Amino acid sequence: MDEKIIAPSLLAADFANLQRDIEMVNQSDADWHHIDIMDGVFVPNISFGMPVLKAIAAHATKTLDVHLMIVDPDRYIKTFAELGANNLTVHYEACPHLHRTLQAIKAEGMAAGVALNPHTNINLLEDTINDIDLVCVMSVNPGFGGQSFIENTYDKVKALKELIIRKSAHTLIEIDGGVTSENAKQLIDAGADVLVAGSFIFKSDNPSQTIKKLKKLVG
Ligand code: DX5
Ligand code: ZN
Repeated sequence: MDEKIIAPSLLAADFANLQRDIEMVNQSDADWHHIDIMDGVFVPNISFGMPVLKAIAAHATKTLDVHLMIVDPDRYIKTFAELGANNLTVHYEACPHLHRTLQAIKAEGMAAGVALNPHTNINLLEDTINDIDLVCVMSVNPGFGGQSFIENTYDKVKALKELIIRKSAHTLIEIDGGVTSENAKQLIDAGADVLVAGSFIFKSDNPSQTIKKLKKLVG
């Protein structure tokens, strides 16, 4: 994986101007749209659900990278496929039958992602890494945008990269939470392929320019 991927998180967009912000991402140097679905049970926050995702999908022209922060995600795999998700990421901590969940996501034609909370060790993926298209390493506790980056993430990314190489897997490493121009390069050097950024992009004076800068920074 050579070209690094920038995935603006729409959670930090202006929801009253969602179409405008999606079109900004469409026109920008970004590669994916990162979409956070929260249920108020797995995480202590509720973001938005299917009708809003449907509206997003109607305007978005890039890969829809959907991050489910919900319990029992298996119930909605088919629905998210129908809504146009390209990548569907579930949380390790929410899936007692992770292998089955991954197969179900792939059976619907989507790339299968697994997100790890900051306390979840990457070695727990030893037996599933070859079935995972994307590991989303949470660099904040999931549920809210605008939190500060957890420094332990660098070591975690390095260890995950080693696991991927050792197992000859083709898994992408995505970082989600507190990503800025301050840590972007170091994350890529540690082995990351995809950087999600919410606040850093959407709260900046010129989001499109910020995306351009991030993209340039990570090459
Ligand atoms: C947090 C979400 C993130 C969030 C990142 O639970 O998964 O995608 O939007 O936001 P920032 O970049 O502001 O930390
Ligand atoms: Zn996310």
